[in-house]
Amino acid sequence: MATLLITGGAGFIGSHTCLVLLEAGHNLVVLDNFSNSSPEALRRVASLAELPPATQQQRLRVIQGDIRQPADLQQAFTAASIDAVIHFAGLKAVGESVQHPLRYWDVNVAGSRQLLAAMQVAGCRTLVFSSSATLYGYPDQVPIPETAPVQPINPYGHSKAAVERLLADLAASEPGWRIASLRYFNPVGAHPSGRIGEDPNGIPNNLFPFITQVAVGRRQQLQVFGSDWPTSDGTGVRDYIHVMDLAEGHAAALTTLLGEPPQLLTLNLGSGQGHSVLEVVRALESASGRRVPYALVERRPGDAATTVADPTQASARLGWRTRRGLPEICRDGWAWQQANPEGYASAPPAG
Ligand code: NAD
Ligand code: UD1
Repeated sequence: MATLLITGGAGFIGSHTCLVLLEAGHNLVVLDNFSNSSPEALRRVASLAELPPATQQQRLRVIQGDIRQPADLQQAFTAASIDAVIHFAGLKAVGESVQHPLRYWDVNVAGSRQLLAAMQVAGCRTLVFSSSATLYGYPDQVPIPETAPVQPINPYGHSKAAVERLLADLAASEPGWRIASLRYFNPVGAHPSGRIGEDPNGIPNNLFPFITQVAVGRRQQLQVFGSDWPTSDGTGVRDYIHVMDLAEGHAAALTTLLGEPPQLLTLNLGSGQGHSVLEVVRALESASGRRVPYALVERRPGDAATTVADPTQASARLGWRTRRGLPEICRDGWAWQQANPEGYASAPPAG
């Protein structure tokens, strides 16, 4: 059992990971400025983990604060003796990063630098970092191994590549760092209870939340970006990973880091399976019993035809692999969307 600092723990991936870590017996300190999340997510995590009220404050401490603010970081590192950090906090919208690159370099890069400096002061040298498959850009080979070139094509991707570079420099500069950079493919789905899930602000940019919002009646029609890609049905193919599999991947990475000599790990977290846009539409229709009307439109600039992970290394180094497929992704994502049509702004579901 360890005491962990979780930055961005109220967000989509962070909240599911917090639940898995609490269920594994760890104590958590969450630092989140709630710029893209709701404190309600963590209340539901505490309830799903069935934390007795007497221990709740010790098991799950929540600090509203910013990773760029040294005083907020100091508060987090003095709230408890932190054994390891899982660093989710950051901005993730590709289009916004093109419009506002300074924001992305500020939060994702300078914020990570600030966090690492606070870790050094606190003597904490174990870190799991949220990286992204976005840094492969247009991949030269599919499935994509970790040895593929890092060639991001937008400021968001550049910010992730910069932090990976910084982590490698840091690990080389002094012994003792235990670091895992986890390159996520396409995280989707929700906890099977339907009580926590993805709650995007405004119109979703990503396919999965858009489809579930069409199915629930919040949006009229899906636009399918391109039907002339060199894929089986002409629509884009991606490696969709259930967020609970992803959460379990973080727990496995932590166990590996804490149980082995210091090292720097860089691993893809994906399923190794690709699904086209139309396959996802059909799977969601089948899980929901609703129709998802769609129109085939032009390709979206910056998209690749196919991105699929080679997950061999994660399996070998972490003893982890995905256990849930597209049917579970759609079942759980739909349960969340149906119970919370307006996300965390919806009335809380009973139970
Ligand atoms: P999210 O926006 O749901 O979660 C990020 C959390 O960080 C939010 O709770 C937000 O309030 C918080 N945050 C943002 N800026 C902060 C700051 N300055 N200080 C403190 N907290 C701050 O996103 P997510 O989907 O859970 O993604 C988590 C991480 O994984 C991000 O770093 C993201 O770039 C990365 N990632 C996400 C995806 C994806 O598709 N969701 C894919 C690859 C990588
Ligand atoms: C996008 C980001 C990527 C990020 C990832 C996180 C872009 C260009 N890339 O990847 O950097 O790491 O999210 O999950 O934004 N699609 C539609 N209609 C829609 C939305 C999407 O047809 O309304 C298609 C896309 O063209 C693509 C697939 O669905 O083929 C998946 O898209 P999306 O969910 O946005 O993920 P990525 O493009 O893989």
